[in-house]
Amino acid sequence: LDNLKLGRRDNLTGALSNPRFELHVLDLNDLAACQHTAAEESQTGPFDIAWHLAANSDIRAGTSDPDIDLRDTFLTTHNLLKVLRRQAIPRLAFASSSAIYGEHPNRLTEEMGPLFPISNYGAMKLASEAVISAALESFLQQVWILRFPNVVGPRATHGALYDFASKLREKPAELEVLGDGSQEKPYLHVADLIDAMLFIVDHGAERLNCFNIGTADSGTTVRYLAEAVVKRMSPVARIRYVGGHKGWVGDVPKFAYSIAKLAKLGWVPRLTSDQALDRAVEEIAAQTAR
Ligand SMILES: NC(=O)c1ccc[n+]([C@@H]2O[C@H](COP(=O)([O-])OP(=O)(O)OC[C@H]3O[C@@H](n4cnc5c(N)ncnc54)[C@H](O)[C@@H]3O)[C@@H](O)[C@H]2O)c1
Repeated sequence: LDNLKLGRRDNLTGALSNPRFELHVLDLNDLAACQHTAAEESQTGPFDIAWHLAANSDIRAGTSDPDIDLRDTFLTTHNLLKVLRRQAIPRLAFASSSAIYGEHPNRLTEEMGPLFPISNYGAMKLASEAVISAALESFLQQVWILRFPNVVGPRATHGALYDFASKLREKPAELEVLGDGSQEKPYLHVADLIDAMLFIVDHGAERLNCFNIGTADSGTTVRYLAEAVVKRMSPVARIRYVGGHKGWVGDVPKFAYSIAKLAKLGWVPRLTSDQALDRAVEEIAAQTAR
């Protein structure tokens, strides 16, 4: 289910040719339509798990209009839970985010708390985790909360790398970068992310499983990212930093994940943060050239 507000049908070309895949263009806030579709689809066999990735992925938009995250990040979760309850779908894997942690000087661990997010997006993801945990008490059987870092790779619809590539396409002589370039975060390649998501759901055997998914290094700076994109896409471009240590309101300028819990479960990423970005820059540049 996707309302294709931010997602693109083109990105599903491969999946759409698979007879085992079905796309329903639906808003999760249209509860009646979602209940109806889920009931119809479950006639061919019950669903045993829901993977919930729908959200507002535009953090900046959610800062200027908090209704966006209420509706697309939180109410999507709230409504999906109603569908799971009605259809007796017992298991849920949820795409959460590092944004739930807010700003911390130390490596982020799953046991940290209390948590004070600094964006509406992070707040609504944390609220989603909370209602999922409550649903586990009353009707769900098993849950996996997957806390993503920044994710990069082909077919992106948003994010710093996507923004830089779009800006350079429009203005090849200059790249404007929000902040001073010192922001430093872990970037995970989407191929590693999907591998980890499947691994965690296969191996996380608790009733409530909660994992950071990330790289073991301390991350990559925005300066590194800007220089890599310029070098690959428009070597003549001048990089202009707008200044300030944050990119925008709600941006967590620096964080590093502890992935010790995930490593203990048996999963380690193939690529470091720098390697993930280098690969994604190449993929996005190749896509742009087509
Ligand atoms: N990409 C990242 O760096 C990152 C980091 C942390 C968490 N996440 C989370 O991972 C998930 C996937 O993110 P993504 O980067 O692929 O972003 P995305 O925008 O490509 O995917 C989110 C999808 O949700 C859909 N959607 C939004 N509101 C909806 C609604 N009301 N009803 C139905 N569909 C709706 C959008 O159309 C979009 O296709 C999201 O939950 C996001 O918050 C992503």
